[in-house]
Amino acid sequence: MTASPQAEQGRRVEAAPATKPQGSASRGLGSTLRVDRWIIKPGLVAFGLLAFIAYATVSAVFGIPYFGVDYTAQGYHSPFFGIALGEGVLPGWFSPAILVLWMQVFFRGTCYYFRGAYYKAFFLDPPACAVGEPAVHRRFAMENKLPFILMNAHRFALYIVFIPLTVLWLDLVFAVFHDGGLRLGVGVFLIALDAILVSLYTFSCHSFRHLVGGSIDCYSCTAYTQRRHGIWRRVSAINEHHGFYAWASLVSIVIVDLYVRALALDIINTSTPIIGGFL
Ligand code: FES
Repeated sequence: MTASPQAEQGRRVEAAPATKPQGSASRGLGSTLRVDRWIIKPGLVAFGLLAFIAYATVSAVFGIPYFGVDYTAQGYHSPFFGIALGEGVLPGWFSPAILVLWMQVFFRGTCYYFRGAYYKAFFLDPPACAVGEPAVHRRFAMENKLPFILMNAHRFALYIVFIPLTVLWLDLVFAVFHDGGLRLGVGVFLIALDAILVSLYTFSCHSFRHLVGGSIDCYSCTAYTQRRHGIWRRVSAINEHHGFYAWASLVSIVIVDLYVRALALDIINTSTPIIGGFL
């Protein structure tokens, strides 16, 4: 008696060697059916992140100990540093930026958006959607083992980053109420813009969205869950632009830092005239 086609098929499936799905890795690095210029986006991401990391390292870590450029000038503080510490509190070779910078690095380094961006740009894992990655990646454990397993701690990074965010808003208050008076200048405008963009980046975080709207079975059941649903919808609206806020806030941090350093070096000063007012 001959076996039915279905039984024959079943035997063939059982007999097939167990192989892991290979995905695009099996086709080799860069192989794709995409016809657009997919390489531009990871290239820009790599350039942008390397430029920011280089700038932040030179300015925040080496700026004071090696170049002697102050991070505070005329009541404005560089956003890399948080609140100004008095002279002699820390040894001269230690940049006070490190006290707050690690929180930002922890938060941005584990950000879901940035992970997606720099895994593509730096690890080619894969270099872009539907583009082949290096075959060696098939052996990578990635976020299952140290150090990348720390990516799963992103929600704790969110809790911590509220500290430098609060300091940033305090910096704005100190910038506005300066020398016993009220001040509205370019520096105040730049710091306010930076505080808003960093806040939008923080509150559009996926973990924050889960914090306000997650772990609820029924949104409509009580007044409390209805309120949380309302907040979750608002957070979801800004969450759509999380990638934009991620980059815009990096740029605004650099602009405020450059402004404060330019004041500290007397390249500009608050009486430098500009259109419609003074710096
Ligand atoms: Fe980007 Fe949380 S997902 S900061």
